[in-house]
Amino acid sequence: MKFEPAHGRKFSLVAILSVPLWISAATGPQISLTLHGAKKGAAVAPTMHGLFFEDINYAADGGIYAELIENRSFEQRDPMRAWTIPADSRLETNGPIHPNNPHFLRVSLPGGDKSATLTNSGFGGIPLERSAQYRFSLFARRTAVSDHTLSIRLESPSGEILAAGNLGPLQDKWSRHELMLTPSATVADARLSITASGGGSIDLDMISLFPKDTFAGRQNGMRKDLAQVLADLHPGFLRFPGGCIVEGNGLANAYRWKDTVGPIEHRKENWNLWRNDKGTDPTKHYHQSYGLGFFEYFQLCEDLGCAPVPVLNCGMACQARGNECVPLDELGPWVQDALDLVEFANGPPTTKWGALRAEMGHPAPFGLTMMGVGNEQWSEDYFARYEIFAKALRQKHPEIQLISTSGPGVDDAHSAFAWKKFRSGTPADIVDEHYYRSPEWFLTHSNRYDNFDRSGPRIFVGEFAAHEKNRASTLRAALAEAAGLTGMIRNADLVTMTAYAPLLARTGATQWTPDLIWFDNTCVQLTPSYHVQSMFSRNRPDLTVPLDIVSRNDRPKGRIGVGTWQTIAEFRNIRLTRDGTTTDLSTLEQTSNRPTDWTSGGGTLKQSGLAENSHMLLGPEFSGDFTLDLEARATGGSEGFLILFDATPSGPASWWNIGGWNNTAHAVESPAVNSPPVPGNIERGRWHHIRIESNGDTVNFSLDGRTVHKAARTHQPRVFASAGIRKTNRELIIHAVNPGPEPAETAFNLESIQPTGEVSFELLTADRPDAVNSFDDPEHVKPSTGNFSIP
Ligand code: AHR
Repeated sequence: MKFEPAHGRKFSLVAILSVPLWISAATGPQISLTLHGAKKGAAVAPTMHGLFFEDINYAADGGIYAELIENRSFEQRDPMRAWTIPADSRLETNGPIHPNNPHFLRVSLPGGDKSATLTNSGFGGIPLERSAQYRFSLFARRTAVSDHTLSIRLESPSGEILAAGNLGPLQDKWSRHELMLTPSATVADARLSITASGGGSIDLDMISLFPKDTFAGRQNGMRKDLAQVLADLHPGFLRFPGGCIVEGNGLANAYRWKDTVGPIEHRKENWNLWRNDKGTDPTKHYHQSYGLGFFEYFQLCEDLGCAPVPVLNCGMACQARGNECVPLDELGPWVQDALDLVEFANGPPTTKWGALRAEMGHPAPFGLTMMGVGNEQWSEDYFARYEIFAKALRQKHPEIQLISTSGPGVDDAHSAFAWKKFRSGTPADIVDEHYYRSPEWFLTHSNRYDNFDRSGPRIFVGEFAAHEKNRASTLRAALAEAAGLTGMIRNADLVTMTAYAPLLARTGATQWTPDLIWFDNTCVQLTPSYHVQSMFSRNRPDLTVPLDIVSRNDRPKGRIGVGTWQTIAEFRNIRLTRDGTTTDLSTLEQTSNRPTDWTSGGGTLKQSGLAENSHMLLGPEFSGDFTLDLEARATGGSEGFLILFDATPSGPASWWNIGGWNNTAHAVESPAVNSPPVPGNIERGRWHHIRIESNGDTVNFSLDGRTVHKAARTHQPRVFASAGIRKTNRELIIHAVNPGPEPAETAFNLESIQPTGEVSFELLTADRPDAVNSFDDPEHVKPSTGNFSIP
């Protein structure tokens, strides 16, 4: 079987082959993939592929929460956002519907046959569908005895009336009014207008417009198209409500679940940690209406058929944003929140919180089994608080699996500290690890869990995404994620949950990319990463089949080069020796990423620009052993030299960084050869002799005759794979990924697996590695399917 490259004329990228007991082996290929049918595999948890929802990029209000009116309750920090109001109208706080919802609009009415009109433009326009039904509602009261009528209209941008109805009479007390509206045309950017007549003034609040047709037909429910693409992923779980949003900028806007339940007009709305710009204007923070609160969340999990995984604030705000902590002796109410959430989800209606759930329409328990305490927290500050939560939860709810966090990254001091804790008694069932890294990192770390110490808790890869330098959702990033996922599945005994992050992004309203699913008011656009998630999630085996992959030649092809970082330098006597032959590279083909910085003559290359990473690649691409000798001298700037190897113009950085970090350290930075920084520097104005010897799996780096690094070459496989059995139909499933530029002809060796029947396959391919989907070309990258018979 041949896995063609991602970008070429014939393509098969994430190949997910789903076979009712199996497939024939090829002969003589470069790569062999052996499935050990007789070896014991690991159970793959039903939660292996799930979702992580955070209200970022307008994911909730203006996103999946189907409310069409922005700022319906006048609680936003930008109080009139989305509204135009009549003169003499103003916000009032005296006598609100509920103290949690303090602001409402008082509209002064001119009396007689005059009227006053206010309008709302929704989230950048209100999308309406012809003949569909929309539920309009508001809370109103009159402040003086008068006969008030409210005329409600949906209007096109040019003022054409698309639907209309009247409400009234109003009472002296707050009362809710509702009517159904059916537009006569489909419009993407309508507005709502409310015209009031009568005398005195009236108070208005909770002005709402919902499509009747929401996901699973829920009132106060979710936007159907967006929820449907989540359902199509067949998620095993839904983590909620974040992310950093759980933590808050400070404790003032930390997420507290109790603010989000009960009647929507009683909920205590909040400003969002995420904002529309990078400035400091307080009105630019997004708003959380909490219309999508914890009840709606549990209900959505039920409608999606997945497990809820709530994450609670651990008594700390975001450590990267100021580290405000609840004093340990005041942690009680925060811990109580966690205990009460279990009661809200699972307790009988005879309990306080179980009764609220029943009142909200769900007497049956929601079946909560897992809970996260803290997101991306670290240090003793966190563990001191986490352990108090853990003790209380273990005592009262031993049935709940506890998810702790190893901090914002992996392989750093915070995560090392956390893992030490987990392996020495800190109680946790699962640890949440996050990584947003380059596509190359995903490829070189797809074996991350192969030899991971199993003595601690299991792992939830709770947020991951491959980040291109330009943050685009490319096929290349998706393939890197797919390669990463194969490693997670191969280690299913350890990794039980995974989720891409973030999930949703409203176009024009994001501050974090890449994201899995994009949307505007009327369209949903799926990224290549979405398709990878979908292919893995729909093809989840129950039990892994252990496998080995052997490549005959997995040494990358690349070129030698010289360069600098914020430094002016010269290079001479650049000699490459391969197979006993030495060539002067300065006489061969030269390719620079900043050609104007470079001049060459008399065997010397001069680099004269103070730029980050200005380099010149020299000679042809090759793979195999070599010795490189050269001399280099820095004449200006702050650092030393970059000596490139295995380098390609569009590939990842692969260099020996000599005198990096302001001329304080040397390090090898390359996907295949890595050596961490060691203290060291170069002397300005002095010619240094540099040698790199790459011999088999060992690469030696020396400066002025002294070895600085002796590094091992890691072999990055050319094909990444995982496999397993789906028990229900005795089906063998193989996930195979070729992220590289070359075809990967692969032999499938099946040990103790008897091939029979039809092979069906699903392929994700495109014309180039940086292929993306867009609103104009939404299906540029999407899976295709096929099948073949086994002879
Ligand atoms: O997914 C976006 C953010 O990334 C999350 O809020 C946070 O947990 C992480 O830093």
